[in-house]
Amino acid sequence: MTEKTAVKKVKFVSPRRLYGMLKPELDAAYFSVMERGALINQRELRDFEANLAKFVGTKYAVGVNSGYDALMLSVKYRVKSPADEVIVPAHTFVASCSAVVNAGAKPVLVDVGADFNIDCSKIKAAITPRTRGIMPVHLSGWMADMPRVMEIAEKHDLWVVEDACQSLGSSIDGRGAGGWGDAGCWSFYPFKILGGYGDGGGITTDDEEFAAWARRLRYNGEDRETGEYHAHGYTCLLDNIQAAWLDIKLRHLPGWIARRKAIAARYKAALGELPNLTLPHYDRPGFDHVYQNYTLRAREGEKFSAWMREHGVEVLTQFRKPYYKHAGLGLKDTGFPETEALSREVCSLPMCAELTDEEVEYIIATARAFYGK
Ligand SMILES: Cc1ncc(COP(=O)(O)O)c(C=O)c1O
Repeated sequence: MTEKTAVKKVKFVSPRRLYGMLKPELDAAYFSVMERGALINQRELRDFEANLAKFVGTKYAVGVNSGYDALMLSVKYRVKSPADEVIVPAHTFVASCSAVVNAGAKPVLVDVGADFNIDCSKIKAAITPRTRGIMPVHLSGWMADMPRVMEIAEKHDLWVVEDACQSLGSSIDGRGAGGWGDAGCWSFYPFKILGGYGDGGGITTDDEEFAAWARRLRYNGEDRETGEYHAHGYTCLLDNIQAAWLDIKLRHLPGWIARRKAIAARYKAALGELPNLTLPHYDRPGFDHVYQNYTLRAREGEKFSAWMREHGVEVLTQFRKPYYKHAGLGLKDTGFPETEALSREVCSLPMCAELTDEEVEYIIATARAFYGK
């Protein structure tokens, strides 16, 4: 790095900057909601749900409080007995697995492949007479091999709940993430590709009965038309003000995805020649990467990430310690070599629509400098 390029602070994401880019639209939505006192279950929620379903390509969308709620409800609807087993990847955010446990089923972990998603060649060995469902997770904006997952599910009569929390807008052969399985689950946590201003989540589905059930369960089990309680439910409705903001941001998403792809292409052009880095470009025909995260593998592991941080670049290293190694979760480590290997090496570079070209060049210069380039 030259004198000229040192030293900057580059944030992983910049919610303040993004707010500045959208201020007139977001503020107008805020005042409209506030002036009408339209806080719970109002038109903004219904509009956002309709637009989300359209974007994903499903008949219905149900707004909930978080990605976790979306997953837990989607699994709970399908679990019939505590002996039911659900296949989940060993490398994912802990909420995927916790949703299975809290929905009353038993998670069965399967290792991932080089693309960080469930290794479909290992699913068969994990299927037992008690297996009822599969939860593929589409990590970082890149989908699990859904044609394979659906084929396996069909053959073994399993339901499929997609954890699409990190992949809004990605697709395989033009069919959107969250539109393949029985349910697609979304997180609108602020750092997500479509992030709210607090927690938020959603479910997409073509199943009318399930959508109606989820609408009741998110509202303490109550049918809002009749006032009848159909089950012991939860309080996990997506707030109307969040829906209003998310609906605005959803309109910008295609443009933001294009920007993310351009940044990823620049990273690839500048870092692709470094032999100790493995970049997240998988080039499978029909698969579309939207780069929610740009997670590379550095052979030097934490040393590379520490260098980036020391030079002002905020990077994420999810997850150095796989979730099944946390004793409090009571899970068994039956050996997941790919998860182990990638956990030592992962490093996510800043990736968001609000990143400037100058910042991208600084990130690149910093990464190259680590290798003496
Ligand atoms: C893969 C994955 N699953 C589940 C979740 C849970 O979403 P939330 O934080 O909105 O509950 C997240 C987000 O943090 C995620 O990245």
